[in-house]
Amino acid sequence: MTEQQVVLRETRDGVQTLTLNRPDKLNALNFALTEGLVQALKEADADTSVRVVIVTGAGRGFCAGADTREFTVLTPDNQPLVEQRAALTTELQGLVKQMSKPVIGAVNGYAMGGGSGLALSCDLALAGESARFGYPEVKHGIVAAIVMAGLVEHVGRKAAFDLVATGRTLDAHEARQLGMVNRVVADADLLGEARALARQIAAHPVQAMQATKGIFHRVTELPFSEGLKIGQQLNAQMRAFRQTELQS
Ligand code: COA
Repeated sequence: MTEQQVVLRETRDGVQTLTLNRPDKLNALNFALTEGLVQALKEADADTSVRVVIVTGAGRGFCAGADTREFTVLTPDNQPLVEQRAALTTELQGLVKQMSKPVIGAVNGYAMGGGSGLALSCDLALAGESARFGYPEVKHGIVAAIVMAGLVEHVGRKAAFDLVATGRTLDAHEARQLGMVNRVVADADLLGEARALARQIAAHPVQAMQATKGIFHRVTELPFSEGLKIGQQLNAQMRAFRQTELQS
């Protein structure tokens, strides 16, 4: 299967929808799909015709996490491959924060392990009623390691430890209560709602939107007083944005 096929791309009205396309495996992240998604996200970020990106899954799953069938080759006697895989997963889980454009997760069905991490890494996330989340890594004798920082960042310590220690599955409404998604919508409306939200965001001036996303992710990682300082700097710079917009 080519890279184009593992991730489907469709662009309409400045909104690019990326669809993970391994439906028979609930879009489990093997090497090819992970590489394809990283590539597609980078290309969407570089494409000036794209203002907002949606990530969703084909079929009845959003993403079932790491492909457990690849675990047979990810062994200590294959350490270079183990490290290559860890680096690729880390790149994917951190990529949305690095991108200049907003990314919306449209979570249909199962979002497990790295799939839940992917949903949480999106700037906004909508869940269909049938969405299910969970961090079952410990059940496989491994650790929800690369997704841990994003989980704790979103739900806080007690809830995060509950999820990673029990490996239990939670429904869309509990995910909403914990702050893992913004909204729960009917399954049939999921993509339509995600596209409507994307179009609303895409209508804003690009420079202001990108600077908003940029400072947002910076201040989440800074102490308050430093966040305030970079806010002051951006406030002084942003006066030029409107001029650029009026001139274009
Ligand atoms: N890696 C590889 N294949 C996976 C997968 C994964 N993480 N998750 C699901 N699949 C495959 C199944 O093997 C099955 O393939 P098959 O039809 O060739 O046997 C197909 O996707 C459908 O999965 P199935 O288990 O039959 O669906 P279900 O609705 O009964 O259960 C889940 C759904 C998500 C509960 C279940 O598939 C599951 O627990 N998956 C593993 C999730 C996980 O542990 N992810 C983190 C890995 S660290």
